[in-house]
Amino acid sequence: MGVPTDISPVILEQIPPTQDRRFEFAELFGNDNPVELELGIGKGRFLILSAADHPERNWVGVEWASRYYRLVAERAAKRGLLNLRVLRDDAARVVRDNIANESIDALHVYFPDPWPKDRHKKRRLIQAPFAREASRILKPGGLVKLATDHEDYAVQMESVFQADPDFEQTFRAVGDDAPEGVTNWEIKFRREGRVIHKFAFARKPRGSA
Ligand SMILES: C[S@@+](CC[C@H](N)C(=O)[O-])C[C@H]1O[C@@H](n2cnc3c(N)ncnc32)[C@H](O)[C@@H]1O
Repeated sequence: MGVPTDISPVILEQIPPTQDRRFEFAELFGNDNPVELELGIGKGRFLILSAADHPERNWVGVEWASRYYRLVAERAAKRGLLNLRVLRDDAARVVRDNIANESIDALHVYFPDPWPKDRHKKRRLIQAPFAREASRILKPGGLVKLATDHEDYAVQMESVFQADPDFEQTFRAVGDDAPEGVTNWEIKFRREGRVIHKFAFARKPRGSA
């Protein structure tokens, strides 16, 4: 066993649901750099590589599973990535309650749980109310980037954002046309030969919808 890593510098403390408060990223990071938010970070490969490659941007990851959250926090702390924070919480709740208007430059959701059974579909993250929240938190021109290997969820993701008047689609690619990403699940799914769907939508300038 190695020496335990102090993960406190990269932890974003939850805001208790009883408190009506939103994160002040400039205060948390000590700078005004753009902020990119990833929901459901898993083992955090995308978040960690992005934070290392782009120290001029701040990176925030939300993850429900304690063991993944802890793993990413340890890896980030070991690498001294002070432009990265992780939060253990429910992604939809954090977005709704804790993220301020127009405070995010890009939103990443890669391979969210597809909840394939009909009776569970209502648990999917990407639904119309989520697109409304994404519209609220993104700066004009900010991108939502989505990926999934699940065809039915791909149709839902694309149609939800196409139907939202605040977004315009900037990217769509399926299968061999989809550029390779770096998340752990994408690597696994590509090895298994699954068809991957990728989309991007830009937040329109306010007042232009
Ligand atoms: C299929 S994995 C994809 C992980 C990562 N994005 C990737 O592509 O490697 C989905 C992740 O979302 C997390 N997750 C599921 N529901 C969540 C929720 N409500 N809030 C935050 N994270 C959640 C899971 O714990 C898991 O790590």
